[in-house]
Amino acid sequence: MKILVTGGLGFIGSHTVVELVNAGYEPVIVDDLSNSDPKILDQIARIIGYKPVFHKLDLCDERGVKELAVNEPDIQGIIHFAASKAVGESVQKPLKYYRNNFYSLINLLDAYYGNPLNFVFSSSCTVYGQPEHLPVNETAPIQPAQSPYGNTKQIAEEILRDLIASGSNYKVISLRYFNPVGAHETALIGELPIGVPQNLVPFITQTAIGKREKITVFGDDYDTPDGSCVRDYIHVVDLAKAHVAALKLLEKESFKGYDVFNIGTGKGNTVLDVIHAFERTTGVKLNYEIGPRREGDVEKVWGDVTKSANKLGWKAELDIDTMMLSAWEWEKYIAQNPL
Ligand code: WQD
Repeated sequence: MKILVTGGLGFIGSHTVVELVNAGYEPVIVDDLSNSDPKILDQIARIIGYKPVFHKLDLCDERGVKELAVNEPDIQGIIHFAASKAVGESVQKPLKYYRNNFYSLINLLDAYYGNPLNFVFSSSCTVYGQPEHLPVNETAPIQPAQSPYGNTKQIAEEILRDLIASGSNYKVISLRYFNPVGAHETALIGELPIGVPQNLVPFITQTAIGKREKITVFGDDYDTPDGSCVRDYIHVVDLAKAHVAALKLLEKESFKGYDVFNIGTGKGNTVLDVIHAFERTTGVKLNYEIGPRREGDVEKVWGDVTKSANKLGWKAELDIDTMMLSAWEWEKYIAQNPL
């Protein structure tokens, strides 16, 4: 079965391409290369043994997407990763985020409209904001968005629900990711932040390898075990496998319409837990200091993943130590083998 993977050369997309092949699917990659490197295609080929079909395409180009649907007609499923995803940048450039994240989604849904199609959408736990109850489950209220990025995820989920309610042939699953980290066990693919990393784990590994002088812990005065923020970190390979599980559920006759699942480990770790796990597993001492809180951070969030275990038939298997070790192996690989 051919699966269109938009954003398929990105961090989560590339790991999902590998797991799709492992599960017997044929991925067709679409990526505009705005936040990924074309050489990741070669790296994927080194893992799966062949180079998947790749279309360089900006999904905001309506004509281009229609041409894609003509050139790639026998697509049985779509996994839609392609979107701008930097929270801070979205506050500075809201129009870029609303244009890119909505035009791409609508063009894609429009171009493939009519075929009975299984659609997996890359959503985020950011839609929960600071949940009232923890762990947070899928019935929790959607909080007012903390950023235009988060708002695009909330509104995209509503677009998908409305599409289903209109009686379209689509079947849709939204996966609400918690915090994806780590890298493939081969260390041939991983996270490739452009410029100064915004996210914790790439900043940790770049500090460990000497690219950054030190890492700042954004606040240690929160109401958490050690005062630093709590997140549900999930290995990117576990996350990739959740997309395969979502496709399998969509393929079932019994699945109708729309559903949404939390994709996390169900466990919370503080920033300092992560730093200490990195130091313990790699033996590398990190130069870190405590600094002021970062604007917009939620204090603590981790997922209730019961529904994913029971209905999606998926649960995370890899622990925080494996996440840290694999992230470190990738950082060392990319330092010695710049793409
Ligand atoms: C995690 C924790 C920081 C850097 C965001 C998006 C989410 C997803 C993942 C896109 C926080 C702390 C970080 C640093 C630090 N994005 N931190 N020093 O903010 O939970 O989630 O990225 O898909 O949708 O919201 O992830 O890695 O930026 O931060 O102390 O140098 O690490 O304050 O508590 P976040 P993050």
